[in-house]
Formats: sequence, C-alpha cells, structure tokens
Amino acid sequence: MDKIVILDFGSQYTQLIARRVRECQVYCEIWPYHLEGYDLNSPEIKGIILSGSRYSIGDANAPSLPPQVLESGKPVLGICYGMQLLVSTQGGKVVHTKGQEYGKALLQVVENRGIFENLAGDIVCWMSQGGSVKELPPGFRSIARTENCEYAAIRDETGKIWGVQFHPEVSHTPLGREILSNFLFRICACRPEWTPESIIKQQIQWIRNEVKNEKVVCALSGGVDSVTAAVLTYRAIGEQLTCIFVDNGLLRKGEAEQVFSKMKEILGKERVIYKDAAEQFLSAIQGVVDPEEKRKIIGRTFVEVFEEEAKKLGDVSYLLQGTTYPDVIESISIYGPSVRVKTHHNVGGLPEHMQLKVIEPLRFLFKDEVRKLAVELGIPEEIVWRQPFPGPGLAVRIIGEVTEDRLQILRDMDFIIDQELRKSPIYKKLWQSFGVLVPVRSVGVVGDERTYKYVGVLRAVMSEDGMTADWARISYDTMDAIARRVVNEVAGIGRMVYDITSKPPATIEWE
Ligand code: XMP
Repeated sequence: MDKIVILDFGSQYTQLIARRVRECQVYCEIWPYHLEGYDLNSPEIKGIILSGSRYSIGDANAPSLPPQVLESGKPVLGICYGMQLLVSTQGGKVVHTKGQEYGKALLQVVENRGIFENLAGDIVCWMSQGGSVKELPPGFRSIARTENCEYAAIRDETGKIWGVQFHPEVSHTPLGREILSNFLFRICACRPEWTPESIIKQQIQWIRNEVKNEKVVCALSGGVDSVTAAVLTYRAIGEQLTCIFVDNGLLRKGEAEQVFSKMKEILGKERVIYKDAAEQFLSAIQGVVDPEEKRKIIGRTFVEVFEEEAKKLGDVSYLLQGTTYPDVIESISIYGPSVRVKTHHNVGGLPEHMQLKVIEPLRFLFKDEVRKLAVELGIPEEIVWRQPFPGPGLAVRIIGEVTEDRLQILRDMDFIIDQELRKSPIYKKLWQSFGVLVPVRSVGVVGDERTYKYVGVLRAVMSEDGMTADWARISYDTMDAIARRVVNEVAGIGRMVYDITSKPPATIEWE
C-alpha cells in the first residue's frame, strides 16, 4: 500500500498532519526525525512530509535534517520548521523572527501549480513561525507570499521539493486539505487506498501470518477498541481466539450484562468467558481513599483475575490488545513519553512470567478510523459510539472510599444523567458525560422535612482525544431535568452541581 512518512521534528501539529493525510485515504506513519531504526528507501513510501517544530533553526539542540531524506529522491513537503530546514541545509538563509507573524494571514499564490493546482486567488492560511526564510537556496523559487513573508511557499526546480511556511494541516487554513491532497496525489502520485475495507483485508492477513496456529486471548472491556480488535481477530483466526470479560463490579448500570450478551451474539458464546470478580475487587479496595492507591489495586487485581482465567485456557501464546495509534506515537515521541498525570489502567501490564506475545492489530489507527472499521465489521452502533470509560470504572467517580451503597447511588444517578442527555441533540457531540459522587453531605428540604444527603456532580465534556477538554454547554432545561430527577429519584443525593472546569487545569475524571 502506498505510504507517506511524516518526520516528527517535535510539533504539536504532527498528529494532525497524519490525520489529514489519512482523511485523503492515504496511509501514513509518523517517524522520529532522526530516523534511527527506520528506512526511507522502501518502494511503498511515496513521499515525505517534514513537520514543524517547537525549536527554531539555530537553537541549541534544534533537530537537524537527516541526509537520507534528500538522498531518497522522494518528493518532500516541508511544513514551517520543515521548510526552513530544507532551505538552511541547501544553502539558503533562515533568520529568527519570533513573534513576527503569528495567526491568520492572506496568502497570495504566485504559481498556480503543484501543491496550488486549482487554487486560484488569495488563500487564508495560519502562520506560526519562529523564523523566516531570507534567502532561497539555488534552484528554489517562491510560489506564494503574504504581506510579511516573501517566501510563504517555495519549490525547487525539479518540482520534487516543496515547502510551506504556514500550516496546511490546521482548520484555520481552510484550503489546507486541498494543498495536502495536491501534494499526495499530484506530486507523490499516491493512490487513495486507505479505506476501511482495505484496512480490514490487510490486517486479517497480518494477524494470520503473525499468529499462525497459536491461541490468542483477549481482555474485553466493551469499549470500541477492544471489541473491534476482537471482532477483527475473530475474522482472521476464528476459534483460536478466546475473550475474557472481567466484571470488576465497578461498571455502570446494566453494562456488564449488555456487553456480555452483545459479544456472545457477535462472536458466538464459546468465544467469550464472563468472569464475575466484583467481590474480589470491592474487598481489595475496601477502605482505600487515595486515588492512586485505588487505581493501582484495581490494576493489580485485574491482572490476577485475568491471569487465572487465561491459565484455564491452556497453551495460549498471544495477548490481543486494542492499542491505538496515539499511544504508539506517544511512545516514539522525540521528547519521550509525556508525563503521566494518573496511572492509567489498561491491560498492558501483564506479568512477564505469563510470557504472552502481544498482538495489536489497531496500533496504526486513530479512534475515528477504529470507529469506521467497527461499522464496516458490523459492530452495533451502541458499541461503536460508546463513550470512553476508564479501566478503574466507577471507583474513580466516587471520591474517597468505594462502598456498595455508594456504587448503587452513583449507578442510579449516572443512569438518569445518561437517559436525559440522550434526549438532547448535544449528546452525540459529547466526548464523555457521567455522574460523580462526592460523599460530602449538604442540607436540603423536602416537604417539611430537613434532608442531609450527598452531593452529586454532573460532568460533561467535549474533546477531540481526551488530552484536552472543554466543559459542554448543555442546555439549562437539560440540567434542570437531570437535577430534578436525580434528587427526586435517587435516595442518597440531595443536591446536584455542574462541573464547569476544562482540562487543563482539571482532568476529565475526578480522581
Ligand atoms: P483524565 O481524567 O486523565 O482522562 O482527563 C482522560 C481520558 O482517559 C480516560 N481515563 C482512563 N482510561 N484507564 C483508561 O483506559 C484509566 O485508568 C483511565 N483514567 C482516565 C478518561 O475517562 C478520559 O477519557
């Protein structure tokens, strides 16, 4: 399959470049700029995009352009810092201009071809630069300018090397998609082959080659990633796959039953094992108040339960995981993995003595691509569009100690929140929406009676990827309906509040 390589020089927009390329149905991968352990010469690589950077040319430790890029003879598009690198390594001149042009600018296209083919007139573009080109290398010419920038886009005389000082990947450059697509299709001659059907076909083949006749085990959480990974793998190797669904007693109302019955329906009942481990989890976290401690105990208990169940299956060689591309990108980040705010509980940390090889068929997919795959695989809508749910479940939505009573209160509150929000058109735009139980009592009055009950929190956020989030502007009527119903119908809650904090500085979950 045709492939574009995006070299990451450490820009906040690198992932966005990859998503834009994939939206054009062209497969791409993000590689670290130094190329250690990577080979650009493979014939399926049709072009190279150089990302921007938080460095400027000339800064100490600024990343440099590895010689293999130009030696490969493949088409190259440099974006911002990437363009400046192309200029400075080939004899041009780049100067520091921090803060000179930042934000929207009007691009006058001088040459209507190549990346600007069919794009006439002035184009709005987004500049963010810590330097600018003062002199072009021999053989280069300017093909677009802005008021403050003579060399806003350039190309070399062979038409293989292109550079843009602005960011075509951001939505503030409305025609950016056309510019990138011109580079992909006109200059690199890529074919639009990256479609759900082709991904499924390719991954099924890959799983078969990898696993051969061995057995695979998978921990199903009911989220779209683990379910898609399981269904895809089932299509590839059928009965060699067994899924284990661990009910930790920390799931939402009706969730365990729903996930289990759906999965039996899709994969067949022999392929899914249900393990009720609620008691084990609840007794392990009994009396524990510290959030990190809770998370660690839940993670550890999960591993114990899963290991015990997996052992019963006999000679299993592989562990199937629903790891997706953002996790992979983070692990190859040129700045190293980002600092973890919380110990996330995923199924990654299985003990080494289990000696399972890991298989991750979704490791090159973004969430929206996983969802498209899921639809193509016939996975029901309610799973495809299920909101993310944290591994430690409701335990991180009950502040302090988790008890059966509190879990019951939270489940009932959460159920009403979900019912009411689903009636609102905003529901489909929400990244997550849920209740949080704050076991602090406040005074109320019902009829002539004074009440003294817990505080319930409504949390609803919009987000692209969970890394940052904004609180959702849900309507007053919806809030009103939720507050009335929760306080009337849930015995333990006397007051509802709405969390109006974005991430950062707050996190999405309360613990
Ligand atoms: P925070 O609360 O850190 O959450 O803003 C960001 C996103 O991650 C989810 N989350 C988790 N997911 N295991 C998971 O698989 C976890 O331990 C975990 N903790 C938080 C959270 O729901 C949000 O979508």
